[in-house]
Amino acid sequence: MGEPLIAGNWKMFKTVGEAVDFVRELAYRVSGLHGVEMVVCPPFTALAAVSGLLRDLGAGIAVGAQNMYWENEGAYTGEVAPGMLKEIGCRYVILGHSERRQYFGETDVMVNKKVHAALAHDLMPIVCVGERLEERESGTTEAVVRKQVEGSLAGLSAVQAAKLVVAYEPVWAIGTGRTASASDAQQVNEFIRGLLRSLFGEVAAQAVRIQYGGSVKPGNAAELMAQPDIDGALVGGASLEVDSFTDIIKNAV
Ligand code: G3H
Repeated sequence: MGEPLIAGNWKMFKTVGEAVDFVRELAYRVSGLHGVEMVVCPPFTALAAVSGLLRDLGAGIAVGAQNMYWENEGAYTGEVAPGMLKEIGCRYVILGHSERRQYFGETDVMVNKKVHAALAHDLMPIVCVGERLEERESGTTEAVVRKQVEGSLAGLSAVQAAKLVVAYEPVWAIGTGRTASASDAQQVNEFIRGLLRSLFGEVAAQAVRIQYGGSVKPGNAAELMAQPDIDGALVGGASLEVDSFTDIIKNAV
């Protein structure tokens, strides 16, 4: 596989000022580091400032949004269009995060529309899937993940699919301090790789980066990244502090 893709999802944290200070420091800490691809995903309000600063610094850190709508423009109060994200330098967009599904009613059908729209605008989707605790305990993890993968990625060509990032984030591991064991995470990521193979063929399945997310920290990043089907991490809480995010990045290489 290629370089691990380490993305920080800041969720609804950091003002513009805090975001700019953070990435200036991060760029300094990771300068000269090779063998890892880095992304930060600030809130919408900070995207333009962060993106502009990282471009000016030539920091080699990409920017992603945490969500978007699927229409190009229109009377959709409060929504943000793919072209608007592209214009301000976003390269990635997180789609279907479990918090979007849980608190804002996003369905696989909606995520699927967003995936198509993102790819049409040359944004790379980070498509999130993962089971809830009761689903894991009742043994339905693979069925749940299969439904999410098939629904979210419906109608894509193999060429389109090859550009995707899929993040496996078990809901019970998000923000709880309870990380999936490396072998449990590997098992589901391998299952996702198999699904992608059956949907899009071997070449596309190998090209997709499959991340793990859920309480990733400096202390567990290396073991997770060493798994054959874990190609990166989607980091929440530990991406909010420069020290811990830098350590995760360095431990992933
Ligand atoms: O998108 C990131 C995930 O929700 C993981 O969050 O690292 O705080 O558990 P966490």
